[in-house]
Amino acid sequence: MSDSTPRKPIRPQRIRKAVFPVAGLGTRFLPATKAIPKEMLPIIDRPLIQYAVDEAREAGIEQMIFVTGRGKTAIVDHFDIAFELEATMRDRAKTLEILEPTRLAPGNLIAVRQQVPLGLGHAIWCARGIVGDEPFAIFLPDELMIGQNDGSGGCMKQMVDAYAEVGGNLISVLEVPREEVSSYGVIAPGVKRPVRGGALTEVIGLVEKPRVEDAPSNLIISGRYILQPEIMAVLERQRKGAGGEIQLTDAMAHMLGEQAFHAVTFAGKRYDCGSKTGFVEATLALALEREDMADEVRAMATRLLGL
Ligand code: G1P
Repeated sequence: MSDSTPRKPIRPQRIRKAVFPVAGLGTRFLPATKAIPKEMLPIIDRPLIQYAVDEAREAGIEQMIFVTGRGKTAIVDHFDIAFELEATMRDRAKTLEILEPTRLAPGNLIAVRQQVPLGLGHAIWCARGIVGDEPFAIFLPDELMIGQNDGSGGCMKQMVDAYAEVGGNLISVLEVPREEVSSYGVIAPGVKRPVRGGALTEVIGLVEKPRVEDAPSNLIISGRYILQPEIMAVLERQRKGAGGEIQLTDAMAHMLGEQAFHAVTFAGKRYDCGSKTGFVEATLALALEREDMADEVRAMATRLLGL
């Protein structure tokens, strides 16, 4: 926890880079994830990782840095040109429009490897050489964030807008039932104030996977971050925390009081695709929002539920 002494102002700089930690083994989805990365599991017809990259691009981010591991090359392939596929589609006079979101400008996809699974903090630190000396975004692709159709944009777009106002470090948060907090990073909230399209809360404490009775609130970190590059030096020295892993949350806690730190309450929907039920919920919810599927899926659900 920090006191409320004035923070060193950090000059906002455009967020150009995003880190996607995707080295996890996806054991919760075995056997589906034995030979394919969990980030390639589709919600309808887009792999999870694609939603995160689309959200990054919508926020003006250009360079995608994947922290991968062994057996994860399908993620990098997904954003490459599939030569045979495209040649065959062209021969058959098929439009390639559907592949458009999988294209990144040359040089804008970078993969680094996390050789050993030492935790989220360690994964982010593996990208330090690519991130360099500028603020950057982090996306945990398990957390699927869908913006509202009101112009406020996706989660990272809302964060980038808030960043332009306050600079420093930002995380997205949301409320969960108190009994669920021990699965997440939890914040101790300070002063809250409304900003364009949502609310901004000062972060005065951060704790990873607390016991329910120790949790400072029921506001959890929901997988989106904008951090200043100084976090890398903190991660370098960071000791193991919850679960015996090097935790990003612990490193961020060291930045409190040194730099501005705010939480953005995302105006939109979040689906926890790290769990099977969350995955099913996301699939159903997104299908019900798609013009080409909604009627059929609604009728199907009604039938299945015997309504
Ligand atoms: C990670 C973070 C945690 C955050 C969560 C969001 O935990 O360490 O702070 O709340 O993602 O999904 P993990 O799910 O990797 O255990």
